[in-house]
Amino acid sequence: MEIRTLFLFLAAKLLMHYLVACLSMTVPNITTDQAGLLVLKSRLDLEPNNILVNNWTTRTSVCNWIGVVCGHRHKRVIALNIPSMGLVGTLPPNLGNLSFLVRLNMYNNSFYGHFPEDLAKLRRLKFIGLRLNNFGGQMPAWLGSLRNLQFLSLGNNSFTGEIPLEIGNLQDLRILDVEFNQLKGTIPPHIFNISSLELIALSGNGLSDIPADMCSGVPQLKILYLSWNKLSGEVPPSLQRCSELEEMSLSDNNFTGPITSGFGNLTKLELLYLGKNYIQGMILHGSAWLGTIFE
Ligand SMILES: *[C@@H]1O[C@H](CO)[C@@H](O)[C@H](O)[C@H]1NC(C)=O
Ligand SMILES: *[C@@H]1O[C@H](CO)[C@@H](O)[C@H](O)[C@H]1NC(C)=O
Ligand SMILES: *[C@@H]1O[C@H](CO)[C@@H](O)[C@H](O)[C@H]1NC(C)=O
Ligand SMILES: *[C@@H]1O[C@H](CO)[C@@H](O)[C@H](O)[C@H]1NC(C)=O
Ligand SMILES: *[C@@H]1O[C@H](CO)[C@@H](O)[C@H](O)[C@H]1NC(C)=O
Ligand SMILES: *[C@@H]1O[C@H](CO)[C@@H](O)[C@H](O)[C@H]1NC(C)=O
Ligand SMILES: *[C@@H]1O[C@H](CO)[C@@H](O)[C@H](O)[C@H]1NC(C)=O
Ligand SMILES: *[C@@H]1O[C@H](CO)[C@@H](O)[C@H](O)[C@H]1NC(C)=O
Repeated sequence: MEIRTLFLFLAAKLLMHYLVACLSMTVPNITTDQAGLLVLKSRLDLEPNNILVNNWTTRTSVCNWIGVVCGHRHKRVIALNIPSMGLVGTLPPNLGNLSFLVRLNMYNNSFYGHFPEDLAKLRRLKFIGLRLNNFGGQMPAWLGSLRNLQFLSLGNNSFTGEIPLEIGNLQDLRILDVEFNQLKGTIPPHIFNISSLELIALSGNGLSDIPADMCSGVPQLKILYLSWNKLSGEVPPSLQRCSELEEMSLSDNNFTGPITSGFGNLTKLELLYLGKNYIQGMILHGSAWLGTIFE
């Protein structure tokens, strides 16, 4: 009898614990998104005439704020488009609460500091555009867990370290832009196994090794920028399998000749930059292509 009472008492206690836990667990909603963006705003060093000052306020729904797009079905923030707005500041971890975010475009501002790891929670992200900012620290390995990413543009920042192997997990990636950072080491072979890739921009780093079979797994690659690195040896003969290439830059490296006959298979090539290697060619510059993707 006593044991039965004790059992019931314990069971009831357990149930109470469970109910209390459920009630106190907040389900994220549009208010969570608003709170996250207000924390972002508070971290910005805004000039009084910046449009966000009077636009991002609680007087109107977050869905009416400039640069913010909400979904129809869930009424949650699905896109943050704030390119070229002269924004200076760091990103708060609270952005990781915008759990419906698909598109994050911060192109051409002055954001600095780390790209917070809490953003690894944003499993729906397809587009990350950070090009032309001052982000620093190691290029985050956790980017490799965002399996829906199609567009990853980190160019013209100050990311350091190596390109994480995990980037090879992003099997829907079409655009990979990490040019003009301070990355070093080997270009992971895993990247050249992402069959959806159309653009790889790695120029302007300190990268020192390129996989010999670089073109065996990227049948759709149209643009490959490798200039201004420390790549050496012969240009990999597997290049002839990148038969969709339209633009390629290898200039300002230490590649040695001779140019393999494989170039002859690249019938769609319109731009080829080879200058400043130990192979003959002309010097041209540029990666103008990326500038056209951001609105
Ligand atoms: C969002 O959730 C909080 C509790 O977590 C609640 O107080 C608030 O009313 C909710 N807001 C909306 C718009 O549903
Ligand atoms: C904020 O900007 C958006 C887009 O330009 C505009 O539609 C909205 O009315 C603005 N809201 C306020 C409060 O100024
Ligand atoms: C960057 O943004 C500024 C405004 O802050 C604009 O004047 C400039 O043209 C933009 N540059 C590019 C390359 O988009
Ligand atoms: C949002 O994120 C921050 C930091 O990541 C966290 O402290 C906070 O509790 C989260 N939830 C809400 C509802 O803001
Ligand atoms: C990106 O960085 C490179 C190297 O520092 C620089 O030459 C180039 O002008 C930058 N791009 C833009 C659009 O500022
Ligand atoms: C690339 O893919 C091929 C075929 O699926 C596989 O055999 C190879 O191990 C992969 N290489 C890397 C570096 O992941
Ligand atoms: C190319 O190799 C030479 C000699 O080994 C070295 O001095 C130079 O710094 C290298 N250049 C690059 C861009 O790696
Ligand atoms: C040359 O390109 C064609 C496609 O245009 C491709 O089928 C063929 O395999 C390539 N040749 C070599 C040797 O890779």
